[in-house]
Amino acid sequence: MKPIQVAEGIYSVGAVDWNISDFHGYSTNMGSTYNAFLILDEKTALVDTVRKEFADQLLDNISKIIDPKKIDYVISNHTEMDHSGGLPRVMHKIGEDKPLYCSKMGLKNLSHHFQQKWNYKAVENGEELSLGKKTLTFLETKMLHWPDSMFTYLNEDKILFSSDAFGQHYAGPEMFDDQIGDAIMPHAKKYYANILLLYAAKTKKLLESVKEQGLVFDMICPDHGIIWRKNPGKIIDAYAKWSSHEAEKKAVVIYDTMWHSTEVMAESIAKGIAEEGVHVRPLSLKKWHRSDIMTEVMDSKAVVIGSPTLNNNLFPSVIDFLTYMKGLKPKNKIGVAFGSYGWSGEAVKFINNELEAMKFEIIDPGLKIQYVPDQNGVDAGFNLGKKIGKAVNG
Ligand code: FEO
Repeated sequence: MKPIQVAEGIYSVGAVDWNISDFHGYSTNMGSTYNAFLILDEKTALVDTVRKEFADQLLDNISKIIDPKKIDYVISNHTEMDHSGGLPRVMHKIGEDKPLYCSKMGLKNLSHHFQQKWNYKAVENGEELSLGKKTLTFLETKMLHWPDSMFTYLNEDKILFSSDAFGQHYAGPEMFDDQIGDAIMPHAKKYYANILLLYAAKTKKLLESVKEQGLVFDMICPDHGIIWRKNPGKIIDAYAKWSSHEAEKKAVVIYDTMWHSTEVMAESIAKGIAEEGVHVRPLSLKKWHRSDIMTEVMDSKAVVIGSPTLNNNLFPSVIDFLTYMKGLKPKNKIGVAFGSYGWSGEAVKFINNELEAMKFEIIDPGLKIQYVPDQNGVDAGFNLGKKIGKAVNG
């Protein structure tokens, strides 16, 4: 990626990771970007760095605009390594004594991570830093999504450097929302579902506080994906909806199967749900990545989980998915379990335990079928689907 001027005196100088396909367990089929921003004024500031492997690319981009040694301040909005991994290389290049601005938790976390005695400047929420004609305000966003997370706001230009928030794991030829249009929204949704859903209550509170303070964003520059310049309100509105746990008239049937019996059950349940006019997708864990399924879960009213019983337990992929989903804390869901079994048949009970722990509304004890579903079994699945569909319709 070449440096690109995103506004007067502000350059995007980060890197594109075209080939990353697994981002700590999240499938990034379209790669990602590690955005970093250079702000030129009487003083020059660098907002965030990149993954360690891309540090030279970042410095090279900066060099096309100014000598990196002329950077006066470095701002670290977030300690996670995809944004801080390049710090040692950058600090070494620009001068180890240059002030490094971060939140108070950022100071703790960066010191712990890097064991370096950099010239840290831990800031308070709302603290300002003058660059000359332009002023930066630091906004604490604790647990969105790490304890150290913060935003940096450029007052005069009304530009928000939002760290991970409002981002998307997307690498493409486009750089701005107006260049890609609505095609970016599925990526933004997947990102929210897999990274921020757990912090929905905090997101909601933050959006309310932004509204109360009358903060206006003419541009939002996240650390991943495209920059929102034409319509930043679009992603703000989407976050307001997602953080409210609003569900569509929609169900998702998630399953794995050993000898296709649980699969037959999944499809008959899905047919019954569809019969009630509810949008439904049966998704096999063999085919779909957990992070894609989680995106479907986020705005589904009903989450139906199926597993064969294997070794007196759940199928491993189902355990994996349940663990992942539980960690992300989806709310206001109807939950139903099903599965085929040979002799012991514990899977449905174990799924119900998990659904209960997630406070899902369990509207049926669940459907167990021994060996292969016959016509009665298929009908039972269809009828269970109808029951789920009716519950979704309310
Ligand atoms: Fe993109 Fe939390 O790092």
